[in-house]
Amino acid sequence: MTDQNTRFNAAAAGTFELGGDLPVNRMGFGAMRITGEGIWGEPENPEEAHRVLQRTLELGINLIDTADSYGPEVSERLIAETLYPYPKDLMIATKGGFVRPGPGRWEPDGRPEHLREACEGSLMRLKVDWIELYQLHRIDTRVPPEEQMGTLAELREEGKIRHVGLSEVGVEEIEQAREIVPIASVQNRYNLTDRGSEDVLDFCEREGMGFIPWFPLATGNLARPGGPLDEMATRHNATSGQVALAWLLWRSPVMLPIPGTSSVEHLEENVAAASLKLEDAEFEELAGGAR
Ligand SMILES: NC(=O)c1ccc[n+]([C@@H]2O[C@H](COP(=O)([O-])OP(=O)(O)OC[C@H]3O[C@@H](n4cnc5c(N)ncnc54)[C@H](OP(=O)(O)O)[C@@H]3O)[C@@H](O)[C@H]2O)c1
Repeated sequence: MTDQNTRFNAAAAGTFELGGDLPVNRMGFGAMRITGEGIWGEPENPEEAHRVLQRTLELGINLIDTADSYGPEVSERLIAETLYPYPKDLMIATKGGFVRPGPGRWEPDGRPEHLREACEGSLMRLKVDWIELYQLHRIDTRVPPEEQMGTLAELREEGKIRHVGLSEVGVEEIEQAREIVPIASVQNRYNLTDRGSEDVLDFCEREGMGFIPWFPLATGNLARPGGPLDEMATRHNATSGQVALAWLLWRSPVMLPIPGTSSVEHLEENVAAASLKLEDAEFEELAGGAR
């Protein structure tokens, strides 16, 4: 499926074994931006959304991140419409645990009945018998965490989920969750200028868990010319966004960036970041200077 004529390929980022048994190229794709404004409804340009998804595979991406709440349902449905039947090595990671009262609005719902229903809905829309990586989008503070993790453990035992991931959690929450169900990955907000989750990243690295940084380009800010990465980018004939993504890949071998875009052009630019080589000293300079 991979386009051999394509100059850039996500495989250049190297691979990581999610859950110890699912190899993925470390440069993935976040499918939140292929929906309407406020992550609500249909995308403005559905043809381009289909082209973006098709192009992910041609560029060697085999980790696509989505959620039932993106649209809601739109992102998962477009993925299935475009890519089903899926290539064997494609890992679609989805999430449950949010309800959407309207555009731009997100409300956690971690009740066991909701999580179960959400998982069944994702299985149906994605047309799969099991979900390779199912992530709890948020721990719902109104529901005992044991009930939420217990439901994920049950879904796993029933074969509906292969691996479980968490999102927006601290080290203590991961440790508590792991007493109930094995955790394969954590998805927290993280980028070059937003490093509040360093301790979680270090923990994931020690424990061999995948760390999926969402907001890797800070909604395009790190990709904009004139930003803090411009000088380094010019030196390497690259874009600022590519430098930001290359830095993430350099930062840790468990880092699995999933930059999101609604445009084929931006997707190609982002994947090319996997081939961008900077000196260690340059990466360290970025780490120290661009907080
Ligand atoms: N776990 C969570 O709670 C959570 C929360 C948010 C997101 N996520 C996941 O993380 C993924 C990434 O997060 P994100 O989409 O918020 O942030 P992001 O990837 O940092 O930024 C995406 C934004 O950057 C723009 N962009 C992308 N590539 C670009 C490029 N090469 N040049 C210029 N602009 C570019 C996109 O606009 P264009 O469409 O115009 O390219 C989009 O507005 C999402 O798709 C989703 O899967 C998870």
